[in-house]
Amino acid sequence: MCGIVGYIGGGNAAEIILGGLKRLEYRGYDSAGAAFLSDGKIQLVKKQGRVEKLAPLLKDVRSFAGIGHTRWATHGEPSDANAHPHLSDGIAVVHNGIIENYAELKAELISGGAKFLSDTDSEVVVHLLAKNYGGNLIEAMRKTVKALEGSYALMAICESENKIVVARYKSPLIVGYGDGGNFVASDEPALAGLCRDISILEDGDVAEITADGVNIFDKYFKPVTRAKEPNLAVSASLGLEGCPHYMLKELRETPLSVEATVRAFDGVKDNLSTVLKGVKRVILTGCGTAYHAALIGKRYVECFARIPAECETAGEFRYKNPVIDNSTAVFAVSQSGETADTVEAARLALSMGAKVIAVTNSHRSELTRLATAVVPVAAGPEICVAATKSYTGQLAALYLSAATLAGDEIYSECAKKIKAIPAVISETLENLDMRSLAHICASSSGVYFLGRDLDYAVALEGSLKLKEISYVAGEGYPSGELKHGTLALIDVNTTSVVLITDKSLASKSENAVEQVLSRGGKVAVITNVEEAEERFAGKLPLISLPACDKFLSPLLSGVAVQMLAYKAAAVLGREIDKPRNLAKSVTVE
Ligand code: F6R
Repeated sequence: MCGIVGYIGGGNAAEIILGGLKRLEYRGYDSAGAAFLSDGKIQLVKKQGRVEKLAPLLKDVRSFAGIGHTRWATHGEPSDANAHPHLSDGIAVVHNGIIENYAELKAELISGGAKFLSDTDSEVVVHLLAKNYGGNLIEAMRKTVKALEGSYALMAICESENKIVVARYKSPLIVGYGDGGNFVASDEPALAGLCRDISILEDGDVAEITADGVNIFDKYFKPVTRAKEPNLAVSASLGLEGCPHYMLKELRETPLSVEATVRAFDGVKDNLSTVLKGVKRVILTGCGTAYHAALIGKRYVECFARIPAECETAGEFRYKNPVIDNSTAVFAVSQSGETADTVEAARLALSMGAKVIAVTNSHRSELTRLATAVVPVAAGPEICVAATKSYTGQLAALYLSAATLAGDEIYSECAKKIKAIPAVISETLENLDMRSLAHICASSSGVYFLGRDLDYAVALEGSLKLKEISYVAGEGYPSGELKHGTLALIDVNTTSVVLITDKSLASKSENAVEQVLSRGGKVAVITNVEEAEERFAGKLPLISLPACDKFLSPLLSGVAVQMLAYKAAAVLGREIDKPRNLAKSVTVE
């Protein structure tokens, strides 16, 4: 998944496209490029590496129209050749999504004489456009998309027409209406500060954008209008406020994220109660860190409301023919609200009669548009690719949602407890010293995060975060399962980080500590259980957290494991905010 942006009008297209791409870099950053129209010619600029590398190449470009792309490689390694736009016969194209039938199309096009210059799936689109072009770009686009399977947001320009032609299917595309020019982009941030109104295109839409206007056609190629909405993208640049990385800044903003999420919940509680009336089964879904939050949400639902709950990664849920009816509520958890697997899981659940509750930090996204109800996460913008404060905000939102399902008495108890938590998270952050454990983890051949029940869910998050930003291998594991296989991996070069925040399960996880120690592995304990602190103090690295209700402890231990990952990545000198091979918003399968 990638970020795309286009502009046509009286402004400096090169400057506008470069600014838009910088704001879209969170969607992918292994290469970037742009194509511009001037004097009936297309000028192409593309480079492997960050968007910044385009800046010197764009200095002398004078153009009224352009399309740009920042890439997260799916098909074809990051390289200049695989960077977009792709060009053929005076037509240039950028693409976000995956063309699933590209191999058949490519073979056909090659046998017809097309010359491919890249290994991407996307290049088939430009060759199809060139083949279908008979003097009318939108007509060529209409014919081309009929041949495509998969997902796409496409933008094309051609040397003989002063317009940008776009199409979307399952990948977001937004048109922006400016003064003296118009815009198109995969996401709102690209349009920050550029236009007052936007329209969100729908699946199957094809549109032509000129300096004077926008013509949109639906999947039957009938002219349509799409509602205009205010452009809410923030144009202010979001500074680091003295932090070396966004990840640290965002971790420090965790108390604010929880506080604002709790406050925002007041505004949706009544609607959520109504939507959840009669619900007999709950399914929670999401990907990556959002899935880890969902795992904890499942336990909240079961423990507070005593309603059967399941949790599944969205990518699995979509393809397992889930058992769903109209008494099922599906909580779709997603920071971005645009993750393809989560959005499609939500769509599937809706089509099967379930109520879908979007738990998201993006209050205007594909997920919020299709959901039956929205529970906002109010973490604010999260720039670092690795999720931190949004995870903790998701936990707060799920905690209150589960309490809502459980009825008024439990809800008021939970609401009281969680209001006190931002201060406890602040205290945790103030006292957390991960430096020496971070050094130990950074020099380990593998780091195992172990825990039971809620601690296990946090262990998964700790291990994902460490892998993601420090590239140290490891695993999150239920501490009781260690002895059934994983123990074979333990040796002096490994570190096990054992989470103990539930007094009733402490002795069980303590067994895991002993099992690792007796095999020569290094062990550290993160705990807020007094007995565990007493047992291990002075004997092994111990991270003490403030005492806390067991259901709210993940909001503290979550911050602790995320901070550990951050510090370990810093020890190793990693590029923390933009880890290799990743992107913030995963809009492809
Ligand atoms: C990990 C991380 C990812 C995301 C996942 C889902 O730090 O950020 O695992 O959590 O890609 O993204 P959203 O929440 O936007 O659906």
